[in-house]
Amino acid sequence: MNILLLGSGGRESALAWKIAQSPITDNLYIAPGNGGTGQYGTNLAVSPLDFEAVAKVVDDKKIDMVVVGNEDPLVAGIWDWMRENRPKVLVVGPSKAGAQLEGSKDFAKRFMECHGIPTARYRSFTAETIQDGYRFLESLQAPYVLKADGLAAGKGVLIINDLDEAKKSLREMLDGMFGKSSATVVIEEFLSGIECSVFVLTDGNGGYRVLPVAKDYKRVGEGDTGPNTGGMGAVSPVPFADAEFMAKVDERIIRPTVKGLIDEGITYRGFIFLGLINVQGEPMVIEYNVRMGDPETEVVMLRVASDLVQLMRAAAEGDLGELKLEENPATAVTVIMTSKGYPGSYPKGLEITGLETVEHSTVFHAGTKRDGDRLLTSGGRVLAVSSLGDDIPSALRKSYDSISRIAFDGAYFRRDIGQDLMK
Ligand code: AMP
Ligand code: GLY
Repeated sequence: MNILLLGSGGRESALAWKIAQSPITDNLYIAPGNGGTGQYGTNLAVSPLDFEAVAKVVDDKKIDMVVVGNEDPLVAGIWDWMRENRPKVLVVGPSKAGAQLEGSKDFAKRFMECHGIPTARYRSFTAETIQDGYRFLESLQAPYVLKADGLAAGKGVLIINDLDEAKKSLREMLDGMFGKSSATVVIEEFLSGIECSVFVLTDGNGGYRVLPVAKDYKRVGEGDTGPNTGGMGAVSPVPFADAEFMAKVDERIIRPTVKGLIDEGITYRGFIFLGLINVQGEPMVIEYNVRMGDPETEVVMLRVASDLVQLMRAAAEGDLGELKLEENPATAVTVIMTSKGYPGSYPKGLEITGLETVEHSTVFHAGTKRDGDRLLTSGGRVLAVSSLGDDIPSALRKSYDSISRIAFDGAYFRRDIGQDLMK
């Protein structure tokens, strides 16, 4: 089949790497892709949010299936648009209604409440109900968790220790701290535990497969300090997500989610990302996303042994049937190399050298671009240096050795990825 993958990050590099290996892939196009995705297919300078331009690629390149990597086109309704305008083309992803699981935290919380899915106690507020918001904050214990309802590029969650500070932030959020995204604010109870990411591929008709579980490292600094980032590294499998824990996840979270979508008449044929927290052995949902995670995909793809294209095609057609999703039992890690200054402002256009000397890792590109023969940085997260090993230490040794061979000005990475899981 001819496949069009939308997106440009490390996640899309890992998806492209995996898609290109499938015997049923004829041609792979990536829009817009990055400086590394051209190794696996053809980059096209098209914005995933420009649906007319995407449709033109679909026509010109005789695309059979569109795989949507990032959430923005899904929340904007690309699934529904394609179904209306290019009904023969398969799209891996939820309908616009399903994408609300990520597009609106208020929707997601209501969905969980309605279907009995364990999550933090919450209430939602707008400018009209700010006084109720203050009173709700007073009824909670610190720390206080405030979330912008809409998409905020991963920045819309504030965790605040002081009550007055939390009230002030509520006011500022409702006043437009995150633009329209924070016109509604979800306030919820703080949950204490260790997080992991569970990915489910669903066909919208009750069939689903669970992908390898991963843990990401969100804070920029070692020891989980400093501001949140898109993710500084990931590990899979996650030791605490054992069979007993995953049985609870399946029964209490995955099944009610899949069934809840069907019961509400919401079409969902794609990846569901469950951001989970393990609270003393009990899984609870922190958030839903409607796509794969980044950098989790970089480790998950290294561990999916089955043909992902067959699985995605079956899901998009609405019937996973008997297809198996086999896992490679090895451990995968990825360590992200970032630009100096990230997640604040950072320089772009710095030359990257040494990639050809890497032997024992798969380096997925994130923020890179080509300039003739040269490879340049073009984003905050630049490279996802990913390796397989028998255990976490052996996989990490490979990634850190590979990193020592790669250079660009001001390159930064965390040296403690996976350390918390080895204790
Ligand atoms: P999100 O953007 O929803 O993934 O939230 C960002 C991060 O904030 C999560 O990965 C958690 O570490 C943290 N977080 C969100 N909600 C809660 C909560 N209710 N309790 C504790 N931590 C939370
Ligand atoms: N790594 C978290 C995310 O993709 O949202």
